[in-house]
Amino acid sequence: MTAEQFPSGPVGTPMPHESAAGHVTGHALYTDDLGVRWQNLLHAWPVQAPHAHARVLSLDPAPALAVPGVVRVLTAADVPGVNDAGVKGDEPLFPDTVMYHGHAVCWVLAESEEAARLGAAAVAVTYEPLPAIITLAEAIAAEAFQGAQSTLRRGDVTVGFAQAAHVFEGEFEMGGQEHFYLETNAALAHIDESGQVFIQASTQHPSETQDITAHVLGLPAHAVTVQCLRMGGGFGGKEMQPHGYAAIAALGATLTGRPVRLRLNRTQDLTLTGKRHPFHARWTAGFDADGRFTALQVTLTSDGGWSLDLSEPVMARALCHLDNAYSIPHVEAHGRIAQTNKTSQTAFRGFGGPQGMLVTEDLLGRVAPLLGLDPQELRARNFYQPGESTPYGQPVRHAERLPDLWAQLLHRSDFHARRAEVAAFNAAHPHTKRGLAVTPVKFGISFNFTAYNQAGALVHVYKDGSVLVNHGGTEMGQGLHTKMLQVAATALGVPLSSVRLAPTRTDKVPNTSATAASSGADLNGGAVKDACDQIRARLVEVAAGTLGVHPDDVRFEAGQVFPLGHPERGLTFAQLVHDAYHRRTPLWAAGFYRTPGLHWDRAAMQGEPFKYFSYGASVSEVEVDGFTGAYRVRRADLLHDVGDSLSPLIDLGQVEGGYLQGVGWLTLEDLRWDESQGPGRGRLLTNSASTYKLPSFSELPEVFHVTLLERATEAGVVYGSKAVGEPPLMLAISVREALRGACAAFGSPQHPTLLASPATPEAVYWALNRARQTTLEEAQP
Ligand code: MTE
Ligand code: MOS
Repeated sequence: MTAEQFPSGPVGTPMPHESAAGHVTGHALYTDDLGVRWQNLLHAWPVQAPHAHARVLSLDPAPALAVPGVVRVLTAADVPGVNDAGVKGDEPLFPDTVMYHGHAVCWVLAESEEAARLGAAAVAVTYEPLPAIITLAEAIAAEAFQGAQSTLRRGDVTVGFAQAAHVFEGEFEMGGQEHFYLETNAALAHIDESGQVFIQASTQHPSETQDITAHVLGLPAHAVTVQCLRMGGGFGGKEMQPHGYAAIAALGATLTGRPVRLRLNRTQDLTLTGKRHPFHARWTAGFDADGRFTALQVTLTSDGGWSLDLSEPVMARALCHLDNAYSIPHVEAHGRIAQTNKTSQTAFRGFGGPQGMLVTEDLLGRVAPLLGLDPQELRARNFYQPGESTPYGQPVRHAERLPDLWAQLLHRSDFHARRAEVAAFNAAHPHTKRGLAVTPVKFGISFNFTAYNQAGALVHVYKDGSVLVNHGGTEMGQGLHTKMLQVAATALGVPLSSVRLAPTRTDKVPNTSATAASSGADLNGGAVKDACDQIRARLVEVAAGTLGVHPDDVRFEAGQVFPLGHPERGLTFAQLVHDAYHRRTPLWAAGFYRTPGLHWDRAAMQGEPFKYFSYGASVSEVEVDGFTGAYRVRRADLLHDVGDSLSPLIDLGQVEGGYLQGVGWLTLEDLRWDESQGPGRGRLLTNSASTYKLPSFSELPEVFHVTLLERATEAGVVYGSKAVGEPPLMLAISVREALRGACAAFGSPQHPTLLASPATPEAVYWALNRARQTTLEEAQP
């Protein structure tokens, strides 16, 4: 074992989030908190169109300019560069055609937020309404698709269906999800003393915010700097959506010479920004006599909303996660993206993976009774075996972890005994039923788009031995900065207290990828460690001379540098750094990391897009009331693979939070749009916290056991760790399957139980009522 594998240092030590105290006391600052520091700040307010689809016939800012305090109205005519806020060229920043209800057609700048609001209300806009497509079903019927259509294929499904003992067909539709980060989208721009555009933005992708602002302003990238202190949550919602807001603030600052603040209020954020894609699936599945998949044919249609943004890669990830943990010999999966007159649906924790997996998990839950198998048995029988590959051609490394983890979890959760208890409870209670289910997760880590799998860092060691770390990742509450502090302190052998993290800025580390795909710690951790290793290698040479030992025998630990085995003969890191400076040693380094071994052919949908898979499983137990469909989660047991955790407390938080966010998506959160032909057609009805139900403490399972898989070192990733951000969200699928089980218990067990998604109490009521009906019908002579 090398020292690399057993780092002594803060890596692997449970510790609170680096800003935890700041979060709870209010000392942690967010983008919009910085605005109060400016005296001559302007506030931006959008003019939102009252139609789902319409041509803008005229737009007259004059009445707004008459409102006291209004300084300027920004319109398309003001754009010096490209009037587009996206990367696909299909997102005009100032549109001449309204594409969704609430689309911002122009922005008002004023001395106060109130004046800006009144100004926006005064702008005179006339529209010619156009026919709008609101639902996924309407889009499919009209064949309104956008972007590329893709197909993932292995083998020949006709062969697979011919081999099948059972062939089933089905359809499934699942809802989207609002990110509902606590901090809404915000940007603050000013022109600095040297004419540089400086933007503080709540963005997961500062480099792309910089690029897009630069092209809107017609400036080179070096003239625009973007900084992100931290976000109050991103969840994928700030991967692409923040760019336009940053561009508006920067344009306003450029034109007025004054700092401009833009912060969406909650309703604006809900009505303007994209959400998780709803999906529709039509499938045919073949199984052999033992319940093993022979073939799966699927057509996935996602609701992309009005523009593409990330819809294509979201679909690619959905197609790559249809298999979840299961070996399916013959696969043919088509993906297409509907264009609807709604917000532009975008990245959301899991990035299409949850939608793809849910199709197959739903299918298995539905067909298990038809195959005469317990759902957990059907699932386990279909697990990947070591040596097998996914339909896109990637070997499933560590496939043995699935059955391992599964067995451990069944044991820990006392699954078999509790199944018997649930059955006894159900037999004794005609109007209340319980359900218990277990589901697996296999999730690919890395961006499918190979080029994004790179990261940079800039580490400075100052003459006093203190360390300043810059890296390209952003902090959104997930604990990336905490992990990066731990990595730097461990790699340099200094205490955490000697290391400080600088805010993420595009002028420190350029050309960064979005902090997304759960890969923030893998990528930036690799880059931070690379920078620290370079510095340490230089310091080793100096220390070897001073200590009179071979460089291989120099140890760095907790701020001390000493010969192997002789801590008492050491010097402090600060003394060593002081010496090194006087010997003219460079004390800073730029680090870089690129994930090795990835390739992906986007057109053929084949390759090895992922560095590794993250595994997990969950057991959930629910209780359902037969009169109302209301339910609660009685207990959940989660077991998740994070490799050797960089920061166990952070990782536990991510697993708990991911699961609960998944429970929200699958059971509570119900986005409703006005689908009527009335004047409000296309309006988001659930446009506030009072109409959109989020999970909170009261939805936490009453008993909640979360465990990280032990002895799970992942070779070739920073300190043996694995990514954690997204995969646990999909652990929530067991709640949905437990609900299905409870609904089924209201009827006779051999029937498939269909359950809508989200499984709101209303949906659960209809599902259990159908189960009751089938039994009643059978009882009739
Ligand atoms: N956790 C918190 N608290 N807030 C967030 O916004 N975003 C999730 C996940 N966990 C998020 C979070 C998403 S969508 C991703 S991709 C990862 O964190 C991103 O961070 P990482 O790559 O550093 O894990
Ligand atoms: Mo996460 S959806 O990849 O930002």
